[in-house]
Amino acid sequence: MTSTFITATGTGIGKTLVTSVLTRQLRARGKTVRALKPVISGFTDETLAESDTAELLRAMDRPVTPETIADISPWRFAEPISPDMAAIREGRTIDFLKLIEFSDGPEQTDHTLIEGVGGAFVPLTDNHTVADWIAELSIPALLVCGSYLGTLSHTIATLEALNNRRVRVTGIIISESPDSPVPLAETQASLGRFVGTVEIACLPRISSWQEAIDLTGLVG
Ligand SMILES: Nc1ncnc2c1ncn2[C@@H]1O[C@H](COP(=O)(O)OP(=O)(O)OP(=O)(O)O)[C@@H](O)[C@H]1O
Ligand SMILES: [Mg+2]
Repeated sequence: MTSTFITATGTGIGKTLVTSVLTRQLRARGKTVRALKPVISGFTDETLAESDTAELLRAMDRPVTPETIADISPWRFAEPISPDMAAIREGRTIDFLKLIEFSDGPEQTDHTLIEGVGGAFVPLTDNHTVADWIAELSIPALLVCGSYLGTLSHTIATLEALNNRRVRVTGIIISESPDSPVPLAETQASLGRFVGTVEIACLPRISSWQEAIDLTGLVG
């Protein structure tokens, strides 16, 4: 049994895509996978079908029902803003200890994949960020970044900050941005000179999960 946290340098970079592809690829190899999106903002009846939660349920071949939604995404907020602020708008808070308990669940699955929310340092509560969540779980993290102009600085800075919080990043996935200024391999080579031994995978633009490169080597 392994657990992996999927975080990113920012929002809208490719965490759900990577989590969904990994779920489908592992399942295609006969593994059981529990994909979670414990905290989600911008979640309403109108956005439900296109939500990260629905995509991860589809990747697990589970129906999208109120029960399955609550099962993998207990903390849902309507406003499409950072979780701490979205919670305040609803007069709620995220109980950090309950979040850890939930993410640490004892399920009998080969792989647990936890998609974070926003970037690695987005606030969840008044005094916890996503990085604190990962650190508390003590599980390896995959860092998803883009290939847009500016990604090198964002990625190197995020990796250093995660290392400072004692988060073990075991892989970086460059998910190709629509407006990449250089070929993916050049971004990979440049990044590679600053990330020590962390493995870097490139995920070119895809229109279906079957087109994705094999990412399963990135989870234990
Ligand atoms: N390599 C890629 N090929 C094709 N589309 C991509 C790729 N990477 C990201 N995208 C697209 O970019 C959009 C944002 O990606 P995704 O939803 O996975 O980001 P995210 O990090 O999960 O965002 P959020 O912070 O909202 O959870 C999606 O429409 C996704 O399909
Ligand atoms: Mg997502």
